[in-house]
Amino acid sequence: MAPSPLTRRSLITTAVAGAAASLAPSARSSSPQAALPVAVGSVNALAAVQRAVERMLAGDLPVDAAVAGVSLNEDDPNEIGVGYGGIPNEEGVVQLDAAVMDGTTMAAGAVAALEGIRHPSHVALEVMRRTTRVLLVGEGAKRFALAHGFKEENLLTERARKIWLHWKDTASPSDDWLPDPAALDDPDLKWFLERDGGDAFNPHGTVHVSALDAAGRVGCCTSTSGLYFKLPGRVGDSPLIGCGLYCDGEVGSAGATGHGESCILAAGAHTVVEFMRHGATPTEACLETLRRVVRNTRRPFLLDAKGRPKNGLSLYALNLKGEVGAAATYRGRRFAVCRAGAPARLEEAAYLFASRD
Ligand code: GLY
Repeated sequence: MAPSPLTRRSLITTAVAGAAASLAPSARSSSPQAALPVAVGSVNALAAVQRAVERMLAGDLPVDAAVAGVSLNEDDPNEIGVGYGGIPNEEGVVQLDAAVMDGTTMAAGAVAALEGIRHPSHVALEVMRRTTRVLLVGEGAKRFALAHGFKEENLLTERARKIWLHWKDTASPSDDWLPDPAALDDPDLKWFLERDGGDAFNPHGTVHVSALDAAGRVGCCTSTSGLYFKLPGRVGDSPLIGCGLYCDGEVGSAGATGHGESCILAAGAHTVVEFMRHGATPTEACLETLRRVVRNTRRPFLLDAKGRPKNGLSLYALNLKGEVGAAATYRGRRFAVCRAGAPARLEEAAYLFASRD
């Protein structure tokens, strides 16, 4: 499929007339919604977007407000894809990634494969404000955090350890690890298998928040523990500026959750912002970026029997008018929105494919 030209008309056309592209009812209107501040984020960011708006109303910059929201997820042990309690890598070690960006100064900070620090988003803010660099990784990121007063702690909860051990015990019939016959009676393991045990492995714990304040400033933050049981040192899209998040004070802000490698290969969040720069609404920009992701997904192990991506990606965006939107590869995804004067709510995301069948 040839790339579409970057016109607003073509974006609208491809969004509504392509294979199965659909705009959710809430996303069809492109009329400006003026109530500011506003924050948009992933489905697990309901409390986070609420906190972000409260913080902006209290005078925080959008980037600080987004981090304040994301911190709630990083603290929550039931958020097994973010921060404390995150599912570890294949060696049982929790490695966290996060990034922040400020659309006014076009400054950013990020950390990747950070161990032992509960709030990687806070460390990312310090990288942005206390260094001339953008991204610190691994042991260097940890030393930087400790030097700036962050406390080291064990991030592997008992629940996450039991989930990891079950994965390790059952990963291969020809290694030395034997499953515990009683493991499946464990409530923590049952909880995990009911939630994430399907065939379509679906990492959905990453959290993203994009924020716009009443002065028209934008900022954003994304935080994750990454793919469950990932290769040690594997880094996804979340801490990569332009991939898991991007904002531009002249345009708006965007972020991603889902299959990180797909997002990296399309520079997902930056691409969303560029489509908005050329006139697309947030929802149209997310959909058009997902079309590019689908076109770029060619390696056989990434494709299902119908040639569609096995792994989903969700994109979130807002523009300077305060319009918000989101889109996902497959139907059924929701996203969080909060505007001044109203409680946070979940809305249906637009999508490319109506079903995985
Ligand atoms: N999107 C999160 C990750 O792939 O790590």
